[in-house]
Amino acid sequence: MYTKSELERFVEQAKKYARYGKVADYIPALGKADPNDLSIAICTPDGNVIDAGDTTHKVTLQSISKIIALALVLMERGEQEVFRKVGMEPTGDPFNSIAKLEEVQPAKPLNPMINAGALAVTHMIAGASVEERFQRLLQFVRKLAGNPTITYSPEVAQSEFETAFLNRSLCYFLKQHGIINEDVEELMDLYTKQCAIEMTCDDLARIGLIFAMDGRNPLTGEQIMPLDVARICKTFMVTCGMYNASGEFAIKIGIPAKSGVSGGILAAVPGRCGIGIFGPALDEKGNSLTGMKLLELLSKTYSLSIF
Ligand code: DON
Repeated sequence: MYTKSELERFVEQAKKYARYGKVADYIPALGKADPNDLSIAICTPDGNVIDAGDTTHKVTLQSISKIIALALVLMERGEQEVFRKVGMEPTGDPFNSIAKLEEVQPAKPLNPMINAGALAVTHMIAGASVEERFQRLLQFVRKLAGNPTITYSPEVAQSEFETAFLNRSLCYFLKQHGIINEDVEELMDLYTKQCAIEMTCDDLARIGLIFAMDGRNPLTGEQIMPLDVARICKTFMVTCGMYNASGEFAIKIGIPAKSGVSGGILAAVPGRCGIGIFGPALDEKGNSLTGMKLLELLSKTYSLSIF
């Protein structure tokens, strides 16, 4: 049903919007991206991947990593412990906002997709050292994508580590209120490496498929994450995956999805397919403008909305 030539046509159509977007440059290394890049991959339950655009380009996960780290800590620590430190409600605020931390009591982040909540989640990744915790996350990512060669970009991690003053301030706020209790520099080291894990949109689509299939790899039959964990992650993708654009995204596209400021989008169409997109031209809310246009075309053509 999904054909390469049709995907190629959609990519060309969506690319026209690149000039209205802007690459993220608050992480200096991301500023080098070409706003005209656009690629997409769709992975179906038979393991087939259909892709279009320049699919050799790699994208760093950035905020897409938040959904994967959440799945890992839910598996390691269970729902009760995780939701003691982070909430379940959308904020309607930008991803890096600090405002609601002070307004809502107790002072825990409202959800795991905003930066404050993601930092609390990364804090919960188990292990004796940053290296051990990062390797545990990386192994999980490799397993989800079925690709043991996935690694991270030291350049992008370092670039964010050197400039992440706002995220550091969120960490100190969380530490003051007892949500986290580790050294802030160590947490930033782990978090910036997590965000810099990089892969192609084919890999992203394969990960999307695992979420789409309720945590099970349909090819091997392995249940990589419990059904409940996959369900929680997909619910957060719908309610908070595109931050303060989640409502409009749900109406226009209607697919559980998570964006990153690198221009990546990971989407999971329940029971049907995983989708990976890389389009670094962002809108003002930090979501891929061309990627969302592409998803809109896809959703309308193939009736992919879950609603
Ligand atoms: O923490 C940050 O600001 C980045 N590493 C990730 C933010 C992000 O991807 C927001 N997404 N659209």
